[in-house]
Amino acid sequence: MDIGTSMTRVALAPDGVVFNEPTSVAIDTRSGAVVEVGYGALDLVARTSRHVVVFRPLAQGATVDFDVTARLVSGLFERVGLSRLSRARVVMSVPSLATAIERRALRQAAIQAGAREVSLIEAPLAAGIGLGLPVQDPVGSAVAVLGGGASEATLLSLGGIVTSATRRQGGSDIDLAIASLARHRYGVVIAPTVIESLKIALGSAKGATRGLSEVVRCRTVDTGDIIEVDIGADLVNVALHDVVHAAVAMIEDSLSGAPPDLSQDVSARGLTLVGGQARMADLAELVAERTGVTVMVADQPDLVIIKGLQLCLEEMSSLHALFRDADR
Ligand SMILES: Nc1ncnc2c1ncn2[C@@H]1O[C@H](COP(=O)(O)OP(=O)(O)OP(=O)(O)O)[C@@H](O)[C@H]1O
Ligand SMILES: [Mg+2]
Repeated sequence: MDIGTSMTRVALAPDGVVFNEPTSVAIDTRSGAVVEVGYGALDLVARTSRHVVVFRPLAQGATVDFDVTARLVSGLFERVGLSRLSRARVVMSVPSLATAIERRALRQAAIQAGAREVSLIEAPLAAGIGLGLPVQDPVGSAVAVLGGGASEATLLSLGGIVTSATRRQGGSDIDLAIASLARHRYGVVIAPTVIESLKIALGSAKGATRGLSEVVRCRTVDTGDIIEVDIGADLVNVALHDVVHAAVAMIEDSLSGAPPDLSQDVSARGLTLVGGQARMADLAELVAERTGVTVMVADQPDLVIIKGLQLCLEEMSSLHALFRDADR
């Protein structure tokens, strides 16, 4: 399981990825029962039942509500066909920046939901495994995970993280910045899903506008009327600037801390971007320009971690050493 700030993925060994939906859970507050998870739960936000409340229990890569996360995990088990009685063995990713308390909370949430055994692995390592990089060998592999609420740039070698730089910031922070800039400039409130699609359609890490804009329907702040506003790429690019440049600086940091021989490996083999935000237009190019290193964007960058976790589950015994570090 990869329970992220924005999206949750579940894979079963050996079936593969069976769930890839928003991290959200709808709970009946009278009984505590899980009504829906993922897109189904988000759909319930609009429908007003006083007893059903929709939660997004993660922020900045970590659980902010233990009990809700436990219910989310049990809802996920049910959704993918694992009964409580099956006592599943679970491998989960945590951001390398997660504290001991956050790790324990995640593990306990899975145990409370019925998991028999829970192993945690740090997301960049899971990503390295998912990418098929030689993470256990004495060579350096550079991986940056750019997610919804957390960003981390790491150099992996000999089954561990050699250097890393992390930030509790990601794509969701860009969405917030776009929302606030639109409110400022046009006095409107735009729905979160629309904001995200504007970011994806119009955003460029290098500020290229390509003459793009999109007309969106939204509400005015003062009267609540629905109006149409033409949002230009320049607004999106202004909003994403700080988060993107902080992520690039973070990647530069992690590379500059590398021991010389591993640094040489990175020069020879390049750096791979994973996580949803790795898809952002011009981002790889910007990182390459700023670091002087060859930058690749993984194929399906948001699924690399869950694929790595599936491999971990399948090859638990040979990869055993990797789990000890994350399980602190
Ligand atoms: N084409 C795109 N351009 C820019 N951002 C994108 C694009 N596609 C997805 N994203 C963003 O990527 C983020 C989601 O990435 P990902 O699924 O890796 O995060 P997560 O695992 O939920 O979060 P985290 O691991 O940080 O807790 C969202 O903010 C989403 O808007
Ligand atoms: Mg993630």
